[in-house]
Amino acid sequence: MTQDEQKKAVGWGALAYIEPGSIVGVGTGSTVNHFIDALGSIKHDITGAVSSSVASTEKLTSLGIPTIDCNAVDELAVYVDGADEVNLHKQMIKGGGAALTREKIIAAVAKKFICIVDASKQVDVLGKFPLPVEVIPMARSFIARELIKLGGMPKYRQNVLTDNGNQIIDVYNLQIMDAIALENKINSIPGVVTVGLFANRVADIVLMADASRASKVRVIE
Ligand code: A5P
Repeated sequence: MTQDEQKKAVGWGALAYIEPGSIVGVGTGSTVNHFIDALGSIKHDITGAVSSSVASTEKLTSLGIPTIDCNAVDELAVYVDGADEVNLHKQMIKGGGAALTREKIIAAVAKKFICIVDASKQVDVLGKFPLPVEVIPMARSFIARELIKLGGMPKYRQNVLTDNGNQIIDVYNLQIMDAIALENKINSIPGVVTVGLFANRVADIVLMADASRASKVRVIE
């Protein structure tokens, strides 16, 4: 399977977790785009979606799937999203698409987080993929200096504004041995909106494509 076929296999595989009549939490990215296509095929069986980005909202809307404000929802049964890296503890790096903050909010609201990934996303140690941090613009340089103290190499993601009007710093050169501690540390730096480490709230289920066998998806619980 090509990488895109793998993304499609897990995107459609996630449909099995969607309860009839429910509101579905929807992430962002090329893997989730396949999931949104799949959701379109059952749109009359769901109430709608809480979306994590303008891009996903546009795609949901174009398929006729209603989007619902997160504030109008007490609880979500399921949130489906991709990841940039996922380890054996189901901890993740996310935010390659700059949607990390809204993704983290919806993940917190949802009872079950289904992470859908192609096989290339599996790692033993998180950190090869540069760790995204959403920051308030005026704090960017201060935060970059603090991230250097933590052993990282921060790089400002040029010409990117998040859907919340903030900026992204990508942190290179990390080998994340204690993801919970690092998530807490970075989140406590003034001016950080959130870090794209999902270690306090991990995925509940990872659907990982098995590159060697056509349309096979591994369920990691
Ligand atoms: C979006 O901000 C990210 O968290 C995505 O979930 C992540 O980048 C995975 O994207 P792809 O599915 O495009 O690889």
